[in-house]
Amino acid sequence: MQVPTQQSRGGAVLAGLGGWLPPRVVDNDELSRRIDTSDEWIRTRTGIARRHVVDNGLSTVDMAVQAGRRALRSAGSYGEGIDAVVLATSTPDHLCPASAPQVAAELGLSGAAAFDVNAVCSGFVYALATAAGLIAAEIATRVLLVGADAFTTLLDPDDRTTVPIFGDGAGAVVLRQGSPDEPGAVGPFDLGSEGELTDLLYVPAGGARLKRSDDPSDHYLRMQGQAVFRHATARMASSSRAVLEKAGWHTSDVDRFVGHQANVRILTATAKNLGLPADSLVVNIGHTGNTSAASIPLAMLDGVVDGTLRAGDRVLVSAFGAGLTWGSTVLRWPGLECEPPA
Ligand code: UT7
Repeated sequence: MQVPTQQSRGGAVLAGLGGWLPPRVVDNDELSRRIDTSDEWIRTRTGIARRHVVDNGLSTVDMAVQAGRRALRSAGSYGEGIDAVVLATSTPDHLCPASAPQVAAELGLSGAAAFDVNAVCSGFVYALATAAGLIAAEIATRVLLVGADAFTTLLDPDDRTTVPIFGDGAGAVVLRQGSPDEPGAVGPFDLGSEGELTDLLYVPAGGARLKRSDDPSDHYLRMQGQAVFRHATARMASSSRAVLEKAGWHTSDVDRFVGHQANVRILTATAKNLGLPADSLVVNIGHTGNTSAASIPLAMLDGVVDGTLRAGDRVLVSAFGAGLTWGSTVLRWPGLECEPPA
């Protein structure tokens, strides 16, 4: 086990990565038999061919536990002595309490600090910044961070504007205390929000504002797709620029761009806006759909498994989500042993 020296503390270093997708797969043809859409429309407008969805009582906690277990295995000895569990999710198993303590308990980590972070599709980057802050402040030395969402549970099954886009899943990382200069050290970060635009993407009822509504559609996700698209491309690009400047990187320093997987057109437009070559994009949305807080760690995992993300790569990470929220960070990719997402 590596013991950090006094000088090497302050950095939060990626030490393990894992992911899990529920076994039930829904392809575009199956959706086309249920709602007024087509495989051709979904592929060309979003880049999505299929997605995994929860069924048979599977929940966010179940997925988070599976992904967390894989990340702990990937981290080897760094997976021991976890003192905090952070769960990024906007679909917790219960409105109260948070789901992270249950995830911790099921992973044998009872006693660790455990809490949820909700920044919807930006949740993983927000939680990464939070976990890095816990380590920098020496509140924790090793953190298990899971991004997990069962977003399909928020959807009106007959709504063709949302159903094709989202999928369910979980991705997880282990962060350890280390040097800010070593491969895998995350940061700096850029985070932001624009709450004036909550209505572009939200579930009107079920929370403290409107507990129950007589209109069933109020309990489903409502999205103004075109407006969200415009804000996503603009914010991911401006946030990426801000974090590159903080890090002292030029755009030409970036080897790989791991962006939130909401729509392949959002990713290509953002890359174009930043002047990044299209082949720098890590893209896995084709088989996952938009898995919200799970999307970035799942994309990282697919990138490692298919060889697009290699040790030493300079990686730009950027996310955008409901709220509105956005966040970006950078890291040099460390050498990690990972299992493919089950
Ligand atoms: O993490 C953040 C979460 N959300 C997002 O990032 C979503 C961002 N937005 C998007 O990705 C895109 O706006 C969508 C994929 C949601 C929609 O793509 P679009 O290119 O913006 O389509 P549109 O809303 O402009 O609709 C174009 C046409 C319309 O028909 P008309 O008016 O041109 O005749 C829609 O009625 O496509 C129609 N349409 C569909 N057709 C077949 C809308 N949904 C579908 C569908 N199948 N599922």
